[in-house]
Amino acid sequence: MSDYVISINGEMTEEANAKISVLDHGFLFGDSVYEVVRTVGGKLFAADRHLKRLHGSAGAIGMTLQQDDNWYLDLWRKLHARREGGESYLRVIITRGVGQLDLHPATCETQTVIGIGKALNRWPDEHYAHGCKVILAKVRRNPKQSTDPAIKSGNYLNNVLAIIEARKQDAVEAIMLNVKGHVTECTTSNVFIIKDGVVKTPGLDEGLLEGVTRGFILQVCSELKLPVVEGQLTEQDILDADEVFITSTTRDVMPVGFIGDHKVRRTPGTLTIRIANAYHELLHDSKNHT
Ligand code: PDD
Repeated sequence: MSDYVISINGEMTEEANAKISVLDHGFLFGDSVYEVVRTVGGKLFAADRHLKRLHGSAGAIGMTLQQDDNWYLDLWRKLHARREGGESYLRVIITRGVGQLDLHPATCETQTVIGIGKALNRWPDEHYAHGCKVILAKVRRNPKQSTDPAIKSGNYLNNVLAIIEARKQDAVEAIMLNVKGHVTECTTSNVFIIKDGVVKTPGLDEGLLEGVTRGFILQVCSELKLPVVEGQLTEQDILDADEVFITSTTRDVMPVGFIGDHKVRRTPGTLTIRIANAYHELLHDSKNHT
């Protein structure tokens, strides 16, 4: 049996039959947006925030979603229900649709909606106990003036190049700088550092995805009364940090132990552990479940 449950345009489809047209602009040009939601206790976690971002991504590329929010909630629930046991990773991709072989989307009338569900990845426990390894990637994050990284789009080639760099060095993630040399985020996660008791993360102006988990972490820091700075971070700030951690829907709060060959001062640091525990409570708070 396949590891994936798949839906195309609302129809559950066996993996072997899950096909889209080669003239789909999502395939041809990466002209698509996507979201990844996870379940907690079988319920959708923070679905409202993911839907809000999905609308934002679509709007930013001039697309209005052709299905309403309940349709997406139903899709995610159906995908989860089709899986056997455990928590789910639920991805939805909305492409511009099938059209002529022409960059302009005028001939794309109907969006293609693809849903993919799989088991939520369990990262190795040692990444949480001792910190994972990341690198500082050579490839730069594309600037906001290009395909804005705030859009969760099907254009992930920069990130693909960065993760290839990371895996060559046995690292699980790559921190990407922008063209000014400021830290932005990782290939599929946001990055935080702690220095002298202050939590710091790149500001949205640097060009990055406004992670749902990042938002929860900022909320948690305010509840814990930890000082936070959202702003410019350099490579040196990352190397001088007392603690470093990365966040995403699939990773939660993952401490960083090594940046390339550089060992992070404290792994996992005491503040990272406090923040991770507080986030864990939010994860299990039924207020955030749909
Ligand atoms: N990735 N930055 C990028 C470029 C991402 O793709 C992601 C999420 C994040 C973290 O966002 P969130 O906290 O909302 O998951 C940051 C998902 C998990 C993925 O592509 O699988």
